[in-house]
Amino acid sequence: MNDHDLRFAKRLVLLNSAVPAVVLGWDAWHHQLGANPVNFAILTTGMLALVFLLLTLLVTPLRVLSGWNWIIFSRRTLGLYAFFYAALHFLIFFSLDRGFSVASTVSEMVQRKYLLVGITGLLVMVPLAVTSTNAMIKRLGGKRWRALHRLAYVAAVAGVIHYYMQVKKDVRQPLAFAAVLAILLGYRWWATLRRPVPAGAGKAGGGL
Ligand code: HEM
Repeated sequence: MNDHDLRFAKRLVLLNSAVPAVVLGWDAWHHQLGANPVNFAILTTGMLALVFLLLTLLVTPLRVLSGWNWIIFSRRTLGLYAFFYAALHFLIFFSLDRGFSVASTVSEMVQRKYLLVGITGLLVMVPLAVTSTNAMIKRLGGKRWRALHRLAYVAAVAGVIHYYMQVKKDVRQPLAFAAVLAILLGYRWWATLRRPVPAGAGKAGGGL
């Protein structure tokens, strides 16, 4: 892929990933989010956060298995969008559902355990977002950066458990997400086993 095509692909991912947020904002503005707009917005952003998290984790296996090395450019953008949708999800809950009340948010979390799992997922994404710049990768060094960014799996596991816990009856969809995540984790484990470890060197390689 030449530089021109890569720039185009980057813009495509950057702009298309924002489309769900724009559509949600548009529909909210036009009062088209149904009978319970706040809940609709919470559910939609939660789903988007999870989908973007899994897409982020899919980039490396897809790159290795397909040989399309250029798709690595999309990992950071997709990861930052996962964080953006998760943060938006929380902010809608905190502002429109809990009326900006920290006490009410905390007491709700204590009562509904799936919220504690959700906040764990969101909090572990903070260092990932903060260290996503090239300068931070350089500062941390590739090995430490990659080790830190394994937290993306923790966020995804927390996201899936949080989803599973809050579903009332039909658990098929959270289980489908869990199956996809298990495949992605399984791939990572398999890739780690296959990688030869040079004596004395702790080369991490491969990324997420
Ligand atoms: C990694 C972070 C998170 C992810 C991936 C995530 C994902 C999800 C998903 C997939 C759903 C269900 C959507 C659906 O049924 O269509 C959901 C629901 C929900 N989440 Fe999260 N979430 C995260 C963090 C949080 C946090 C930090 C909070 C608030 C403290 C929160 C509050 C809620 C609430 C209130 C619901 C709706 C429950 C209901 O109406 O029954 N989530 N989330």
